[in-house]
Amino acid sequence: MDQNQLKQAAALAALEYVQQDSIVGVGTGSTVAFFIEGLAQIRDNIRGAVSSSEDSTAKLKAAGIEVFDLNAVDELDIYVDGADEITAHKHMIKGGGGALTREKIIAAVARKFICIVDKSKQVDVLGDFPLPVEVIPMARSYVARELVKMGGQPVWREGVVTDNGNVILDVHNLTILNPVELESQINQLAGVVCNGLFARRGADVVVVGTEQGPQISE
Ligand code: A5P
Repeated sequence: MDQNQLKQAAALAALEYVQQDSIVGVGTGSTVAFFIEGLAQIRDNIRGAVSSSEDSTAKLKAAGIEVFDLNAVDELDIYVDGADEITAHKHMIKGGGGALTREKIIAAVARKFICIVDKSKQVDVLGDFPLPVEVIPMARSYVARELVKMGGQPVWREGVVTDNGNVILDVHNLTILNPVELESQINQLAGVVCNGLFARRGADVVVVGTEQGPQISE
């Protein structure tokens, strides 16, 4: 099986967690695209979705799934999203697709974060994948200098503007031994909107696509 087939297998296995008549939190990325395809097949059984990006909103609407404003939703049972890296502690790096801030907001609202990945995303220690940090444009150079002081090597994702009108710094060369602490430290820098560490609120369920079939850890 190639990587896409493993992503698809994980994504379709997550459909088991979708409750009848519920509103589903939907992430962003190529793994989630398979989840949206699956959701389209059962769209008559759900009320709709809240979306973490303009990209996913377009895919959901094209699939005939109603997209709700998060402010109009009192509670959310599940949020389904991919990750760029995930550890056995269910800590993640996310934001490779640049949607980290809206992803973190919906993850905060949802009772259960269901992470769908192919097995290549599993790591012992986070940091090989450059950590995305969303920054208010005027703070870009300041935040970059502060990230260097923390031991990272930030690279501006030039030409990319997030759905919120901000820029992204991808921080290389980090070996993240304490993701909970680093997530808070980076958030405290003036001008940082959000960073791609999802550790204070990690995943609750991980569905990994493997050649032996989807493996689920709760
Ligand atoms: C989007 O901003 C990300 O957080 C994605 O969840 C992450 O990059 C995983 O994407 P793929 O499913 O495309 O690998």
